[in-house]
Amino acid sequence: MGRIPQAFIDDLVSRVDIVELINARVPLKKKGHEYTACCPFHNEKTPSFTVSETKQFYHCFGCGAHGTAIGFLMEYEHLDFVDAIETLAAEYNLEVPREESSTDYKRARDEKQPLYDVLEQASQLYQQQLRESDKAINYLKQRELSGEIAKRYGLGYAPDGWRFLLEKMPDKPNIINSLKVTGMVVQKSADKQYDRFRDRIMFPILDRRGRTIAFGGRIIDEGEPKYLNSPETPIFHKGYELYGFYEARQAVRNLQRIIVVEGYMDVVALAQHGIEYAVASLGTATTQDQIQKLFRSVSEVIFCYDGDRAGHKAAWRALENTLPVMRDGLEARFLFLPDGEDPDTMVRKEGREAFEARMQKATPLSEFLFDTLLADVDIDSMDGKAKLAKNAKPLLAKIPESVFKDLMYKRLSELVGINENKLKGGEENIQETRTPAKQKSQRSREIKQSAIRDAITLLLQHPELAGKAQIPEAFRDASMQGFPLLYRIYETIINHSDLTSSALIERWRDSNEFEILQKLIQRDVQGTEDKSGLESVYNDTIQRVIEKYNNDRYELLEAKLVDKTITPEERKEYEDLLSQFSTSKTK
Ligand code: UTP
Ligand code: MN
Repeated sequence: MGRIPQAFIDDLVSRVDIVELINARVPLKKKGHEYTACCPFHNEKTPSFTVSETKQFYHCFGCGAHGTAIGFLMEYEHLDFVDAIETLAAEYNLEVPREESSTDYKRARDEKQPLYDVLEQASQLYQQQLRESDKAINYLKQRELSGEIAKRYGLGYAPDGWRFLLEKMPDKPNIINSLKVTGMVVQKSADKQYDRFRDRIMFPILDRRGRTIAFGGRIIDEGEPKYLNSPETPIFHKGYELYGFYEARQAVRNLQRIIVVEGYMDVVALAQHGIEYAVASLGTATTQDQIQKLFRSVSEVIFCYDGDRAGHKAAWRALENTLPVMRDGLEARFLFLPDGEDPDTMVRKEGREAFEARMQKATPLSEFLFDTLLADVDIDSMDGKAKLAKNAKPLLAKIPESVFKDLMYKRLSELVGINENKLKGGEENIQETRTPAKQKSQRSREIKQSAIRDAITLLLQHPELAGKAQIPEAFRDASMQGFPLLYRIYETIINHSDLTSSALIERWRDSNEFEILQKLIQRDVQGTEDKSGLESVYNDTIQRVIEKYNNDRYELLEAKLVDKTITPEERKEYEDLLSQFSTSKTK
């Protein structure tokens, strides 16, 4: 899909008021100049979550959560930036335009819409059939599923016969074509076509926006194949989607963890017993794409498998696919059920609490990895140690640089008795971990420059001030910290005069400077408690910034003069500054 035009994002974000946006999700109470509530991001009894209308920023003194309006939406609803923009747009009934060969995008969308439409219609027809079929109802009853849960998951029934959909849906060539493209109808020969799903309980598979994109169909009682699934289609990619993910996000506010199970029935049975955060991969091993998708929404994923050999094998594949997406702060664990049980039978037997207690005791990824590898070697022998190192190294190498990775190497080094850096095979990890720290201290130095800091804060909080005092263009290419950033903010406001504070800061979301700006927008600049003083404070601040610029420049040029590396132009600048200083001193 094409990029969303910046102008659209600016407009949309400019409509947002952070108080309104948060209040619709977490009711706020007014307290002085700010609004408060119990923090939605951690458990607390007394409110330490505050929202500032003037700063258009939220901050929790309890857990440190903070951010912009869009940041809140992303955190609270587990959305990435584009999702958040789409969600907001939907709230304002706006369609999100896309850049790039927009005709391509439009064509693609126009081609896909009919597919979503027929699947939605099919789903409705199946659900209606379920209500009318004793056979299907009895089957679900026998599996102890409630009507309520069947409804929540949109379960349906595809009746026996070969032409149910073909007869119920309008007999138009484009509809028939969509039924074929989505795999609902199979074209046997030039003049013979029939329904793929017959006499089956139907599980609709939804995408992240809740649109039906495929089905799984279970045979009633015995028969082969037990489950029939939609084939890969332009709107359904098995390795990417997860059954039950949309429903989980709908059911659980502030979703923190997900349990990954193997079957449709497991997801539905767990939900019925109050474990509403289960998803199933679709009949294949859980892929890296699926795991990545989960970790974008939650920080804890529990993989649940049978305790038998096949279960361990599936779990191991999930582990291999998890390693490349592990980051610090994420947690992956493995839960093995007793032989012959699956989550459906287990939760019905012992109930929610006992099942969740099992989850609590699930094996951490690190333990599962080393236990599995250790089971294969004699660790007391030298050969065994060598084999362990050999088997572990390619796995650990998959983990992105992180504390977690370092700890895994540390564990391996303890087991085999070899220095961890040697095990890591020459990777210069020490250097790598140092770089962010270095950047950080550079950043905080940047913030210490108080006049610049004030100027940026004021512009972020009150973009309309930009028109009040001009900022010299020379700042743009200044080598001194902070000046170029200040200039770019100023320039952005001048070029887009209707940007609000929120829309302004969002333009920096993907840049290294976003963190600094988030800190700055939260500050209070002295003298601005009262709005009437704002303009003169701003003018003063810019004056101070310009003075600072001239001083820094002067020092820099003087050093060049001493070095004899000064250019004729710079020499002129130097002399101008010098005379400026002397006149201002004699004043
Ligand atoms: P299971 O055989 O474990 O079934 O398959 P289940 O989920 O426990 O279902 P019930 O309880 O017998 O009704 C697990 C998953 O593997 C896929 C399906 O996604 C199923 O939910 N599968 C299984 C198929 O795609 N086709 C099959 O024939 C069997
Ligand atoms: Mn089962």
